[in-house]
Amino acid sequence: MQQIQKQIKYLKCKSISKRSLPINSQELQLPNLVNNQSHPLEQPSQVLLVKLGYSLIFRVASGEMLGPNQPVILHLIDLPFAMAALNGVVMEIQDCAFPLVQGIVATDNQSVGFKDVNYALMVGAKPRGPGMERGDLLKDNGKIFTETGKYINDHASRDIKVVVVGNPCNTNCLILANQIKDIPKENFTAMTRLDHNRAQHQLADKLGVHTSDIRKIAIFGNHSPTMVPYIDQMTAKNHKATVDQQWVTQTFIPTVQQRGAEIIKARKLSSAASAGNAAMNHITTWVNGTAEGDYTSMAIPSDGSYGVPKGLIFSFPVTVKNGKYSIVQGLPISPFYQGLLDKTIKELVDERNAVDHLLK
Ligand code: LMR
Repeated sequence: MQQIQKQIKYLKCKSISKRSLPINSQELQLPNLVNNQSHPLEQPSQVLLVKLGYSLIFRVASGEMLGPNQPVILHLIDLPFAMAALNGVVMEIQDCAFPLVQGIVATDNQSVGFKDVNYALMVGAKPRGPGMERGDLLKDNGKIFTETGKYINDHASRDIKVVVVGNPCNTNCLILANQIKDIPKENFTAMTRLDHNRAQHQLADKLGVHTSDIRKIAIFGNHSPTMVPYIDQMTAKNHKATVDQQWVTQTFIPTVQQRGAEIIKARKLSSAASAGNAAMNHITTWVNGTAEGDYTSMAIPSDGSYGVPKGLIFSFPVTVKNGKYSIVQGLPISPFYQGLLDKTIKELVDERNAVDHLLK
């Protein structure tokens, strides 16, 4: 069997609040960290998961993200005080005897954690609490992502594909990518797949079809309450589908925009399983491509399409082929949608201005 060798690293910060990155680094000395050595493989892929949540580790380890033929090395990073708990997670991964897991790097040292990583799922950031908006987090997370960007630049594989999930994810990604000197900027993306998935569910529910029947929808803009769920080209079961405009403006769009806040209100915690699931979907699609005739949503460096200032990390409808994404061009933008786009563009420009000092 021809092995496509990639490496997966998982950074997990279990005992700190969701989406926090390890800051103080000290390598964890755990016995038996590398397992399955007897399985003959040429070169596994390395995937870095930064605080993705307990369930996601096991989904990635099982091959759900990169496929059943792709061996992985998991990299797990946690804060120094959480090393004992991390050891427990390592033992559990070992006890699953996953055929695809070729190694586990468990550490609280980011230079060790990021070494040679091919895929990084950056869930770590200071978390948002009830009543907070993403803008509140800019300051603290700016510092974290500046530092992490340097580790990626110095230690990760030059082909690394990064998805930033921790909020405010678009601008965190902008800060991160700004630290990178010799990896292409287009390898740095932020996650709006969660919003895409949420929109898909709302629409499927409204139209009485399955979520997989809903195609040609997209999220434009920021992963925030200004995001723009765009459905003017929607199809359901491969036929053009429409829903009434009043429902769109009064129910659908606000529901998708506020879903994260609603979950925080209900759980007293931010979304975890659905966010991890979407991060995994984001990478899977980036690697395997979009289905013929459909597109997905990824927040990527703007090339100026749809009048979005160049360089902003902005969610666009994209198609993906051979590991490369392209913005879907020429979608008709009604005055209604243009008004929404202007608002989310302005928010992201304001966020960029607020972290200007970190982008020098
Ligand atoms: C979500 O959309 O569920 C999260 O991004 C909300 C948050 O701020 O953690």
